[in-house]
Amino acid sequence: MKKIAVLGHGVVGSGVIEILMKNRRLLERQTGEAVEAAYILDRRAFPGLPYEDRLVQSIHPILEDSEVSVVLEAMGGVEPAFSWLSECIRQGKSVITSNKELVAEKGDILLALAAEKGVHFLFEASVGGGIPVLQPLRESLTANHITEVAGILNGTTNFILTRMFGEGAAFGEALGLAQELGYAEQDPTADVEGHDACRKICILASIAFGSHFYPREVHTQGITRISAADVAWAARWGGTVKLIGRARQAADGRAALEVAPMLVPNSCLLSQVSGVYNAVRVTGDMVGETMFYGPGAGKLPTASAVVGDLVTALTQPAGSRPLAWGPEKPGALQPWEESIAQRFLRVSGMDREELEAFYPGCRFLDGPEEGETALITAPATQGELDAAGQAAQAAGGRILSRITLLEDNR
Ligand code: HSE
Repeated sequence: MKKIAVLGHGVVGSGVIEILMKNRRLLERQTGEAVEAAYILDRRAFPGLPYEDRLVQSIHPILEDSEVSVVLEAMGGVEPAFSWLSECIRQGKSVITSNKELVAEKGDILLALAAEKGVHFLFEASVGGGIPVLQPLRESLTANHITEVAGILNGTTNFILTRMFGEGAAFGEALGLAQELGYAEQDPTADVEGHDACRKICILASIAFGSHFYPREVHTQGITRISAADVAWAARWGGTVKLIGRARQAADGRAALEVAPMLVPNSCLLSQVSGVYNAVRVTGDMVGETMFYGPGAGKLPTASAVVGDLVTALTQPAGSRPLAWGPEKPGALQPWEESIAQRFLRVSGMDREELEAFYPGCRFLDGPEEGETALITAPATQGELDAAGQAAQAAGGRILSRITLLEDNR
């Protein structure tokens, strides 16, 4: 029998236990032995649970039990997860996590420590919920220079946008439902303000470009400023607005990362992704464009990815390949202001002729709104586009919204 421990009995942790019980025989066939969650750590009590006797409130019995070979973490947050998992690895235990904040902040350290100790550190569930994307990016696409990773990386905000603009729901109502369904973070500000998507694009970029990227260095904007008018304009133009995390290789070789609501053309598959679903577009120099799609949040989809990693840890040797990524390489990240983009703008108080002076080469969109003009700028750096916007406002224009355009790469 293989003894494992689960840290955290919240949405994901309880989902892991459910899968271990429901698919017990399948997992036994795949690992060659029964798998038992011998310890489930949570500060809360769960009276009446059939496995109540396995609940513990301290990490010590887990660390002290040398038969526990794999520890699954689904608590969230950097501490105490980082200290506890580091100690588990030092004790020779493989570690699996769904905790994107931890991986985005400390992934390089934990990867190096796990390699030194000859154990696994796996985190497929940290990006895209149940979608297999990290392992394909790391292994199946390894023959490619990755030129771009872009996607819908947060189920909660995609669920909210779909409900608000597809079904006319109010923001608070859509968010409340996402919380009830177990999609949202404990503090849903991390979803709504784009921080969760930012952690995920940092993890994807770290694998794609081999350097650790920190969320605090990435330009991040959430969904709170998207209006029904933006979505109506986008529909008339032939697209929609989605919260996108994107990491591109810039012409100078640096990586350009950002998280923001973007205007997505209908020709791009990402425009079709609705509800809690996520999708990640990975473009490589040899393969071209690939797409990974599936449920991006929720109990069983996320737990499915955790248990997939568990089977890997129980059946495959650790450390047979170079590290997924190493420490941050100075200068690897291109400042957002220098990245090239096109923007969709809605402006009032200025006519087309006046606007053209600030945005040479722009394309105007036709729409029925009285007193406002919409346009798509020519490509320029984000810094130049900001400066043009400030100059237009100083001359009496009022910018009602500014949304970066996501190109259809195909
Ligand atoms: N709050 C996250 C989301 C959970 O909505 O995508 C999955 O990481």
